Amino acid sequence: MFNRSAKMADAVAQVVGVQAHDVTEPITEPVDTLYLASGVMLGKISKEMASFIKTLSPDKVGRVVCFGSCAIIKSPVPQMRALLEAQGIKVDDRSFTCRGSMGPLHAGHPNKQDMEDLKHFIESTL
Ligand SMILES: Cc1cc2nc3c(=O)[nH]c(=O)nc-3n(C[C@H](O)[C@H](O)[C@H](O)COP(=O)(O)O)c2cc1C
Repeated sequence: MFNRSAKMADAVAQVVGVQAHDVTEPITEPVDTLYLASGVMLGKISKEMASFIKTLSPDKVGRVVCFGSCAIIKSPVPQMRALLEAQGIKVDDRSFTCRGSMGPLHAGHPNKQDMEDLKHFIESTL
């Protein structure tokens, strides 16, 4: 099982000073900012991500900052944003997307430089 979003989320957690969690774990207490990462399979974000977003509400989450990776489409973020906004949640205009590999296509991504770029992006949202 690939989990490039988990690798990216761990890097973000280090910058923010929190622990990263999988979307299969529901949020148990309100958060000011939720950093949310996704990849894309067969053109879509995962069912787990969509289900998780449907558990969120503005009283639980102040703002979401989206980031992720994909190989073909431009970004997973518009799909995440649409579902989040349908829940009435504020989504930061800023987001981060880098290439993620699909077999030989973009092999090695997210790479070291992608992770550095991600960390700089996250610093700009703190
Ligand atoms: C089986 C498979 C299918 C994929 N399908 C797509 C796709 O349809 N569109 C796309 O942009 N990227 C696609 N990708 C690339 C993934 O989005 C990319 O590897 C991403 O980094 C995966 O993140 P994740 O491990 O967090 O799911 C695919 C990758 C794999 C392995």
